[in-house]
Amino acid sequence: MIRDHEDVFERQARRYDRPLDTWAELEREAFGLAVGSNGYTILAEAEELARLSEAKVAGPVLDLGTGRGWPGWLVAERGHSNLVAIDVPVAGLRHAQEAFTARGLSSRTQVIASDGMALPFASETFSSIVHTDVFC
Ligand SMILES: C[S@@+](CC[C@H](N)C(=O)[O-])C[C@H]1O[C@@H](n2cnc3c(N)ncnc32)[C@H](O)[C@@H]1O
Repeated sequence: MIRDHEDVFERQARRYDRPLDTWAELEREAFGLAVGSNGYTILAEAEELARLSEAKVAGPVLDLGTGRGWPGWLVAERGHSNLVAIDVPVAGLRHAQEAFTARGLSSRTQVIASDGMALPFASETFSSIVHTDVFC
């Protein structure tokens, strides 16, 4: 892992450790539901991603840099797909696991601590890849 990269993950980990109450309230005001975002991806954009990533070939969808499981849970739910969610900060991945479980998606989703710079998957494992606000 390169040095700058470590800083990104440490910064994000601190965000995922913070209480979510106020943020969830803002999301409910904006979207009508708390989605667990840590970026700028709105509900309509996540719905479009779900539509675009609906399986056209065999294989799960990869949500790279899933944060708290957004938009992964919506992609898995609306796109009826299996989904693998990866990120590095474990605090975020715990939220992601909770988001999947709360929506009854445990059997179709997997949460893995992994750096997208060195993916531990064979090529052509995934039918599509989504990533929202990962390169910022
Ligand atoms: C701004 S957050 C967005 C999280 C979520 N996708 C969302 O839209 O709410 C960016 C996320 O990308 C993750 N990330 C950045 N570089 C990554 C990499 N090389 N591999 C895995 N995750 C990465 C960060 O740890 C962070 O959780």
